[in-house]
This record gives sequence, structure tokens and C-alpha cells, in this order.
Amino acid sequence: MSNRRFSHLLRGVWLLWLWQVVFVAGTGSKLWEVPPTSFTSSLNHSEIQQWEPHCEYRHPHEGMRITADTPPRLDGTWVSTRCEVRPGPEFLTRSYTFHPSRHFQALQHYYTDSSCEDPAYSLMIRGKHRLRQASWITRGGTDAEHHLSKVAIVVHNLAAKQRLVSRLPRTCVGLTLGQMVPGKLYELYNTRAGRGCMASLGFSMLEMGLIRVETQHHSHGGKVQELFLGDIHTDWTQRTQYTPTGYQQPLQNAMHHIHPCPVCALVYRSSEQRPPVLPRSPAAPLSLAGRWVSQRCETRPTVLFLTRDFTFDPNQHAWEGIYRHYSDPTCSQPTFTLRASGHYAQGNPSAKVSGASEFVFKVTQVKVTAMDKPTAKWLNGTRPGKCGQAGDWEVGVEKDLTPTDGCTVLSIKLPHKEYELFKTELDHRRHPLLFIGERPTDGSSPDRPHRRPTSFQPPMMLCSGGQTHPLHRYGSGFNSKQVQLAANGADRLTQLVLLVVGFVLCSLF
Ligand SMILES: *[C@@H]1O[C@H](CO)[C@@H](O)[C@H](O)[C@H]1NC(C)=O
Ligand SMILES: *[C@@H]1O[C@H](CO)[C@@H](O)[C@H](O)[C@H]1NC(C)=O
Repeated sequence: MSNRRFSHLLRGVWLLWLWQVVFVAGTGSKLWEVPPTSFTSSLNHSEIQQWEPHCEYRHPHEGMRITADTPPRLDGTWVSTRCEVRPGPEFLTRSYTFHPSRHFQALQHYYTDSSCEDPAYSLMIRGKHRLRQASWITRGGTDAEHHLSKVAIVVHNLAAKQRLVSRLPRTCVGLTLGQMVPGKLYELYNTRAGRGCMASLGFSMLEMGLIRVETQHHSHGGKVQELFLGDIHTDWTQRTQYTPTGYQQPLQNAMHHIHPCPVCALVYRSSEQRPPVLPRSPAAPLSLAGRWVSQRCETRPTVLFLTRDFTFDPNQHAWEGIYRHYSDPTCSQPTFTLRASGHYAQGNPSAKVSGASEFVFKVTQVKVTAMDKPTAKWLNGTRPGKCGQAGDWEVGVEKDLTPTDGCTVLSIKLPHKEYELFKTELDHRRHPLLFIGERPTDGSSPDRPHRRPTSFQPPMMLCSGGQTHPLHRYGSGFNSKQVQLAANGADRLTQLVLLVVGFVLCSLF
């Protein structure tokens, strides 16, 4: 069901953006113009993060300002700060170097285990990139293109070789895989051959299609720079064709990273022949008790900006999640807030991602607050019985969707069940972080066990003295894209948005 809806949604989204592109093109926009609320043109643009977590914990953002420049400056080496988990799951560390000549060299080290202790193989990727323009789809991001000139592989042991040989075509670029010797570098792809091998590996560098660099300016004068590259599609069959609209977890600049970062140093010093072997992190027992909040304004695939605020009460098996949605990448213009609650049950340790645990969440109640006029107007116009009390929506007033079993236009259906994957980790200050399963990129919901996530959303941090009032949960599963769009529109867009929404609605019902 969600898939069908989503394709309709995408058509709506696409129409809106198309219209904006045409509109802006007509007014003679500049290459670096930042769409879409204000149609002003500026070549250089530096946005300042507005949102700060409302959390009693003295968080790392204290005394800090975050800026993001468009176009981003990429020169230098950028490294993983932890063992990364991609959908599949795949476990890897990355070290990407960008040169002023626009050439780049990317090192990707793949592992068999979720703590990146057992390297399987490394890829050495060379190519050239070009920044194109401020993204039309993902505000705050920059569209880029790249051209690969060479991909080479080193397998680190015989077991890893066997696994690769079973996945890849028998020969790649003249290399007979069965004859690979561990520790030796082999070419897997060049500009003339090897596409089949790359596709079988599930490998692409499409992540280079969407780029954002954030700089944290600390009050004591230091800075931390983070490189966000495009997200990886959660469906394996889509990942080599998908044009990213969200981001992966950021890499940090090797010169400007958070201290201490032992992983950064290991990854920075690595080579394709000497993959970093990460130290085992002390097993932190998974305890959800308390309140967890986003560390930053988060960007999700297909134009969603949000922050999350969760509370868990293990004694009651109850949870509450507050999803604050915004129309801009600095989270300064709220559009609507969703408060979901229900119950949860902890299942087994995950067989796919060791250290993580399976959960089942039940959403029984959802309340929504429209935070701006276009959203209030839009929800106000929904058909009676489909989304709370029709004709009753006002800006800033929370409405209960439970009596209408959810909200059709927000794709919220109550009650709702989701299969989840959670893990906790300690950050560089030994403060707990909570990772919740990544939502399917196609906008559907992990509502069956086989759709349970294998990767994670950005971590949330624990607020000290987190309190246990009753609880709920988020769903990017709850498709709020239409509202997001409605909110994106400045006043003059409102009419068009309503048209588009009308189009989407017609398609839905
Ligand atoms: C934009 O930023 C670049 C890099 O900082 C600088 O060289 C250039 O002069 C700036 N251009 C404008 C129009 O501000
Ligand atoms: C919602 O609809 C009601 C009844 O149609 C109307 O009186 C009210 O002004 C509307 N509110 C908004 C915010 O559009």
C-alpha cells in the first residue's frame, strides 16, 4: 500500500519542484541560487543552524555555532568516526580525500562484523567530481556529479575471498577472482570495463551526488567540519541507481574533528593494504529508560527536515515520540509536530547486526499540531473523518488523530505496528547514544518482520534526568511529505501546493 501511495506522492513532489524550476528559470536564476522559499539569488550562501536540542544535558553543542556553506569546500581528507552500518547490513569505514584539482581518492574498508574488527576487503576508488548547483530537492545540499576512473580491490584473507568469489562474476577486467592473493591490489573497474563486477558488489559512488559540509565553530576557537554525502537506498536492488535525497552519517575532516576520536586517527592512517582494525567498544547494555533527543536538525530522503524527541518508560513498556518537522535545513521554520505514543516489546539480540536488539513497537495514539498557516489550512480542508476533526485545525493547537484512526493524507493508520532494530553506543565523552532503525527509503513502513531495518538513523543523545511521562513514536513511516510541501511554499506557492495536494489526493482515493 505504502509503495503505491509513495509513487503518487512522488509525482506530486515532482510536479511541485518542476514548477519551481520553471518558475525560477523564468526569473533568470544563478547557478548557486538556493531554492525554494525565497527566490532571491546569491552566489555564496552560508546558513546558520537555528535549532538546539531542548535537553537538560549539557550537550556538546554548548557554546557552538553551526554553519553550512553553499557551495561546500571539500578539499582535504574526511574520515569515519565509528564503524558505519549500511543497509544490508554492510559494515565499513571510509576515508575520502578531495584535491583542489577536483580529483578524489576514496578508501572503503569492509568488515565481516558490526564492530569493524575483522576486515574483509578494501576498495580504492579514484575519480573526478564536479559540484553543480544548490539542490532543488534537498535544500541545504549541493548536487554534484562524478566520474570514476578506477576501482581496485584488496582482499584481506581467504575467507573474504571465498565470499566475494561467490558473489562476483568469474572474471573482472581480466582478473580471475579465484586467483586473487590476499593483501595484493587488483583492478576491478576502469573506464573501459568492470561495470558488472561493481553492480554485483552493490557498489556505486552515487553518494557523491548530494553533498553538504557543516562547520561547528566552538566558543573556545576550535572547529569541527563534517561532510555529509548522499544516503544509500535501503533496498539492495535500488542502490546502484538511486539518486540520493538524504544523507549518510557524516565523515569528519581529518584536521578538524571532534577530540578525542581514536577511530578518526586509525582510519586516517589506513591504506588499502592496511585496513583500520577498530578497538572493541565496551558492550553497553541496552537501556532505553529516559529521554533521548536528536543531536542536530536531521535531513531525510525526499524533503524532510526534522528533530526527534523520545521518552521510554521500560517499566510500563510505554514510549512517546515527538517529531518536529520543519521546512528548512536549519530547522528554523516549523511546519507541524507529531506526537505519537504506544507500547513496545524488546525481542532477541539481532542476528544480522551484533550488538543491536530487535523490538516491536505499537503506535496507538497520534496527535498533530500544525505549526504554520499553510499546514493548518491544508489539514483543515481534509475530508471529514479522514484526519482528526475536519474544520477544526488551528496553528499551534494540538489535535488528536486517534478518533479517526489516524490521518489518511499523512499516511498514518492507527493502530500501527513496526519492527525495529535498536542499539546504544557511547560517544567520545562516554555519553550514551541511541540508534533507531533507518526507515525504508521508499517511504514505506517496516510493518512486517522481513522489513525490519538493518541500518540506523542518526543517533540520539540521552538527556540527563530524562523523565518518564507517557510515551509515543515517530514514523518517517508516517508520510508527512505533503504537509512538508505545503509548508515549504511561501504564500504565493500556497495555491499551487493545494493544487498539487489535490492531485495527490485524487490519486490516492
Ligand atoms: C564565494 O566564496 C569563495 C570562497 O570563499 C570566495 O573565493 C568568493 O569570492 C565568494 N564569492 C562571493 C560572490 O562572495
Ligand atoms: C477551518 O475550517 C473552518 C470551517 O470551515 C473555518 O471556520 C476556519 O477558519 C478554518 N481554519 C483555518 C486555519 O483555515
